[in-house]
Amino acid sequence: MVAFPHAKINLGLHVIRRRDDGYHDIETCFYPVPLTDILEVVPSDTFSFSVSGIEVPGSNDDNLCVKAYHMLVRDHGIGPAAIHLHKIIPTGAGLGGGSSDAAFALRVISEVFGRKLSREALADYASQLGSDCAFFLHDRPMMGTDRGDNLRPADVSLKGRFMVIVTPPVHIATADAYRLVKPSEHKSGLTATLAMAPITEWKQLVKNDFEDPVFSRYPAIKEVKETLYRHGAIYASLSGSGASVFGIFGSAVDLSAHFPGKFYWGGELTR
Ligand code: C5P
Repeated sequence: MVAFPHAKINLGLHVIRRRDDGYHDIETCFYPVPLTDILEVVPSDTFSFSVSGIEVPGSNDDNLCVKAYHMLVRDHGIGPAAIHLHKIIPTGAGLGGGSSDAAFALRVISEVFGRKLSREALADYASQLGSDCAFFLHDRPMMGTDRGDNLRPADVSLKGRFMVIVTPPVHIATADAYRLVKPSEHKSGLTATLAMAPITEWKQLVKNDFEDPVFSRYPAIKEVKETLYRHGAIYASLSGSGASVFGIFGSAVDLSAHFPGKFYWGGELTR
């Protein structure tokens, strides 16, 4: 069975407080983007895991798809599988690619082996694999709170708008980025803003708390956001803790020539 784990961007991201377990409580809107990896799972005589496409850091044993597989072997006695992952989504870039691969691995492996797992059971596994992993069990925009794994549907639609994603070749470790942010308990009103404010007002209203510390360390990332605005973005922002920046446009654009040496994706939003 073949699946297409998709990327996400964050519409607003507030870091509210540091928790006793070392994580942070956040508030964000996860928005699905039709930039995808390709994941294949086939029952086999022996277990194997292979990767093609862009380079994935770390060993195969550390890959979240492999961890997802072993969780299901442990708890549901599933048999050996040949798993192949073709990576297209930049890694460690604020687009949730690894988490999406893991969530789709949980979904696809359980389906291939005929195990009917509830949404709650899948969400529990996903939360153990990563804070934003559970979002990828839902194929729609969701508000995330707590670690980002407490999810409810978001009342926002960008369907028919066009998105550009640019990823400079800078790797920002999520844990390091969280250390740079000063948490703030202020009420963001993000849910209501996304539901009610026109997208033309988001530039003033929808903020990602990682932008200030990340932009001051990496001015090249800030420059990407400014370039997107200069070329007609209605709204542009850092995604997650970076280094990806996205822009939302009213019509199709090809700005790839402005971003040499950087990953570039553009397409229509379908959800
Ligand atoms: O959950 P995930 O593996 O994606 O998190 C990576 C790191 O990012 C965590 O070890 C933690 O340092 C930080 N993090 C955080 N608060 C969150 C999510 C991640 O502090 N809500």
